[in-house]
Amino acid sequence: MQITIARAKVNRPKPAPASLGFGRIFTDNMFIMDYTTEKGWYDPRIVPYAPFSLEPAAMVFHYAQEVFEGLKAYRREDGKVQLFRPTANIKRMRDSCERLCIPPVDDAIYLDALKTLVETEIDWVPSAPDTSLYLRPFIIATEPHVGVHASNRYIFAIIASPVGAYYAEGLNPVKIYVEAKDVRAVKGGMGFAKTGGNYAATLKAGETAGQNGFSQVLWLDGVQRKYIEEVGSMNVFFKFGDEVATPALQGSILPGVTRDSCLKILRSWNMTVNERTIDVDELKNCSEAWGSGTAAVISPIGEIVYNGSRIIINEGKIGETTQKLYDYLTGIQWGKIPDPFGWTEPVNS
Ligand code: COI
Repeated sequence: MQITIARAKVNRPKPAPASLGFGRIFTDNMFIMDYTTEKGWYDPRIVPYAPFSLEPAAMVFHYAQEVFEGLKAYRREDGKVQLFRPTANIKRMRDSCERLCIPPVDDAIYLDALKTLVETEIDWVPSAPDTSLYLRPFIIATEPHVGVHASNRYIFAIIASPVGAYYAEGLNPVKIYVEAKDVRAVKGGMGFAKTGGNYAATLKAGETAGQNGFSQVLWLDGVQRKYIEEVGSMNVFFKFGDEVATPALQGSILPGVTRDSCLKILRSWNMTVNERTIDVDELKNCSEAWGSGTAAVISPIGEIVYNGSRIIINEGKIGETTQKLYDYLTGIQWGKIPDPFGWTEPVNS
């Protein structure tokens, strides 16, 4: 399927790298494609970034039938631009679509859409250290109907945002609050899918945590409220002696692409790495902790508060393994070191 390109007539000035922050500035153009049950997915196109016109009855507004992804385009030192593991995001959106009863987009068209948008917006890919172009693909249900069923119309869109660090702390360790009352997801629910409802469920505890000086909430399992799940915006890893452990994927947490990359890198270093159940009471024994995510990259955790007790990790400083992993992963992402895993996908030659 051919992507038609009708780009914006006026290009807005590019922001200064120091003003980027995360996810507030959007590029001049976006990708869109439509779906109806009669036509399937059709009319892939690049158009100027602009508001959608949707009926108030569009089903996404009422029943949250939507899925999304997050991935980044990186500018290498030689000026070329590359994506990191786009096929992993495409596969995960397919899994999310299946859970949300949304018709998946063909993998080849999806990859073409990502590359075509980045090529169109190539001047928006920043080059300052630790900056990238964040891509946000999403599908929303647009059928106007207040009855509860799977929509028969959708929009698939990709928007792009030049970004810096997700957390104001940058690579300085963040403080995390363990939520013991609210839960994010349960097995059998939608926790593994990248869908807005999972994030809406985290907002209340996130607000309270923020008011008390914490960057994020660490979620426990929804049944026993005892086992570590994830941080909502990232997966989590802990170092106990020589072991690195991360919660196993059992349906209630997001199968992070960065999580998987960390596991593969750590295993390639012959480290002992386990995907397992982690009891919250084990955290007092950990020597390092970090979060992993596309937006958060590798984010060291310096303090965890659970039931009023403070656990200070590695004296609140970034740990050796965390730093090594950050340097290696970001080295591959920005093309500073060879990519032995074949994870990078060139956009321009
Ligand atoms: C990502 O890391 O790409 C995400 O979607 C997390 C989001 C909270 C920014």
